[in-house]
Formats: sequence, C-alpha cells, structure tokens
Amino acid sequence: MKIIITDSYKEMSERAGNVVASQIILKPDSILGLATGSTPLEMYRYLIELYKKGVIDFQNITTFNLDEYHRISPSSPQSYAYYMMENFFNHINIPKENINIPNGDAIDVDEECREYAKKLESLGPIDLQVLGIGPNGHIGFNESSDHFPVGTHLAKLTGDTLEANSRFFDSIDDMPRTAITIGIRDIMLSKKILLLANGIGKADIIAKALKGKVTPRVPASILQLHHDVIVILDKEAASKL
Ligand code: PGA
Repeated sequence: MKIIITDSYKEMSERAGNVVASQIILKPDSILGLATGSTPLEMYRYLIELYKKGVIDFQNITTFNLDEYHRISPSSPQSYAYYMMENFFNHINIPKENINIPNGDAIDVDEECREYAKKLESLGPIDLQVLGIGPNGHIGFNESSDHFPVGTHLAKLTGDTLEANSRFFDSIDDMPRTAITIGIRDIMLSKKILLLANGIGKADIIAKALKGKVTPRVPASILQLHHDVIVILDKEAASKL
C-alpha cells in the first residue's frame, strides 16, 4: 500500500486525477470503477480540465459506479446517477452506453443486482477503482457488519451513513434506507485501487482502516490485503496515522 500525504484537498484531487489520467493514457479502453460523494468532486473537475486540454480521451473508457440509492429515480438530483452526469459525464466524451450505474428505481431490485453483477463480471475486472471512505469505514455501501459482503447486493444503510449523507437531503427522514452496491469481492478484484480521503473528520477512520485490524467492522481495512493500493490523503485526514 502506497500512502501519499498532500498539503490540501486541491493537491489530493490533482494527484488522484493524475493517477486516473495515466491509467487512461496507458490503457485507453480501461474499465474504471467510480465513486460519488464530496471527496472525488474536485478530482472529477480536474479530469474534465485534462479532457478539455486534450490530454485524455474517454471514447473507449467504460465505467462502473460503486453504488446507488434504492428507490430513487436516476433523474432525481439526489441520485448518484444525477451526480455523475452533472459533475463528470456531461462534460467528457464518454459514450452513454459505456456508463454503468445501478438503477435505483428498478422494480425488481434483486434482478437489478444480479444484472449489474453479471455485467461487471463479463466486462471486468475493473482496472482502476476509485474509492472514498465513509465515517464508519464503508467502501461503496458495504457497511460495517460481522462479515464482508461478497457481491452486488441491496445494503441496509447504518446510522452513521444516514447521518453523514443526510446533508444531501431535506432531512434524515427523506433519506433512502437501502442502496444497491457492488461487494467487497468486486472491489478487491480490481487490478488497482485508489482510496481518497480529506478533512479532519476522516482522520480516525483512516487510521483504523490503514493501520488497525482487518475486520468487517471497518470494511475499508480489507484494502490492507490488496496488492496494489494507492491512498491519497490531505494532511488532516492523515493526521492520526
Ligand atoms: P464523502 O463520502 O466523500 O461524501 O465523504 C464518502 C463515502 O461515504 O464513501
């Protein structure tokens, strides 16, 4: 595991964007695993800038998003589909058919999980998986529990996640209680993993995930066992390492 500590969120984002950009340049038909949330926002903005400068081309890139809220329409501003379009996909030349995001609005959610898993298995493994980390150590919506969830599934969101993500909703009561997420096995099968965290609010969980015991109570701790992980932190998130 390579840990890079940067001076600022901007520097973390640009370093992360450069890892993604070099992946795209070296393998223009890469499969990228993508994350949402506040953490990668500036990285996406930087990648759009590199695209506009002609440094990178998304024509042959395929993406799989980690997760999506259940019972939220892709057109809802709170959906991760909407986030991805607004913050990234609408500004680059990726063909729409190369974008994969679980459909949170699917009538048969079990079938949606099966289909997403099948597509990921047939096109994967992911070449580069970008991850944020939740305050409870979740990656994707693989929440803290007594086992590591294996494949794509409907996850029940825990109290910490509901509290942390309710900032994007009118109130915590408006938040979905479940989400579709790829599993820990899917993440661990990725050839390379890029974990990002910024801000003092992530300092405790980063220390636990990177230096603590490997346990499903801290799902990100399993990344200690992956053969090719780059962690890029700002100095606040790294302050308890
Ligand atoms: P954040 O979320 O980037 O908004 O902090 C990270 C996560 O929950 O995985």
